[in-house]
Amino acid sequence: QTPIWLDCDPGHDDAFAILLAVHHPALEILGISTVHGNASLEDTTINAGSVLEAIGRPDIGVYPGARKPFCREAVHAPYIHGITGIDGTELLPQPTSPPITDINAILAMRNGLLAQAEGDAWLVSTGALTNIGLLFATFPELAAHIKGLSIMGGAVGDGFSPVTEKDSNAPFGNTTFYAEFNIYCDPEAAHSIFSNPILAAKTTLVPLDLTHQVIGTYDIQQRLLNDSAPSAKAAGLTIRQMFHDLLTYYVRTYIKIFGLTDGSPLHDPVAVAVVLFDEGSEDLAFNDHGGERFAITVKTEGEHEKPDYHNRNIGQAELGRIVVTKLAPGEEGIRIPRGLDVSRFWDVLNSSMGRAEET
Ligand code: BDR
Ligand code: CA
Repeated sequence: QTPIWLDCDPGHDDAFAILLAVHHPALEILGISTVHGNASLEDTTINAGSVLEAIGRPDIGVYPGARKPFCREAVHAPYIHGITGIDGTELLPQPTSPPITDINAILAMRNGLLAQAEGDAWLVSTGALTNIGLLFATFPELAAHIKGLSIMGGAVGDGFSPVTEKDSNAPFGNTTFYAEFNIYCDPEAAHSIFSNPILAAKTTLVPLDLTHQVIGTYDIQQRLLNDSAPSAKAAGLTIRQMFHDLLTYYVRTYIKIFGLTDGSPLHDPVAVAVVLFDEGSEDLAFNDHGGERFAITVKTEGEHEKPDYHNRNIGQAELGRIVVTKLAPGEEGIRIPRGLDVSRFWDVLNSSMGRAEET
């Protein structure tokens, strides 16, 4: 099993990332830290505990991390995820285990990762990068110790992927014209990660260009809802219904806000899937064009403005935009896959749901 630590801000798609991280047999989850983002830290922490409760693993520790970015106020996304950060289902239970607060989350992450053999553990980030930035600023030696860092965040645009090549001039952010939400929330933290050369060489970025290939269409929604094993317990059916509620809520907001027609992208579990692919556990065919690597800088000038999701119209503000430069062959840098086997991805997620049903 590959040890992983998940840092997240649940969040509808974060809930699916938790499901995959907890219920894939090739992964051993060390702990979950929470961060400000889709909702307040208090809410994302409760939501993480609720999801773990729902999928039968309340024993996994939830560690509340940073409630705001390094040097900005927190930004939340109620337009996308509702007031609680995970609206849309009545089936999420209250957590029975309280979050762990007798140790600082950053220290818990460090202890959990350092307890693994050198070059074994992965860190997966599906929220703002504040906790991850604090972790490597406080314990820089950890960068050499971990195997990899998989981050959902950023938007490249400019024809980078099959999604954006259709209209290579279209801006591709989901929070401003250029910026993706996780990077926008704490651009300085993101910059601290991407500018760390030891870390960059171990980082895989999963930007919107990739996640917009993974669309929760009506057919996918039906399959995830109905594909229970005949032996599944009643509790299992509830789990599928709960995830169906979450996915369809997310689809509705994406259709309303972004005008997507087929469904919504399911961003965050793709960052977990990177680990499964790299460790040879699932043939997900992430495609980095034969090893291309990138340097990334983050636009940090300017102030957060109240996001206007309906128009993505914070002018041409560039705060939170990533600027991606392709490196020469053989140079070390950040990997940004351009594609993956989407149908296999859904198979893998569906199997994890099946395992959650049987827990
Ligand atoms: C990212 O932003 C959040 O709202 C989602 O959970 C995901 O991590 C997508 O831009
Ligand atoms: Ca998230």
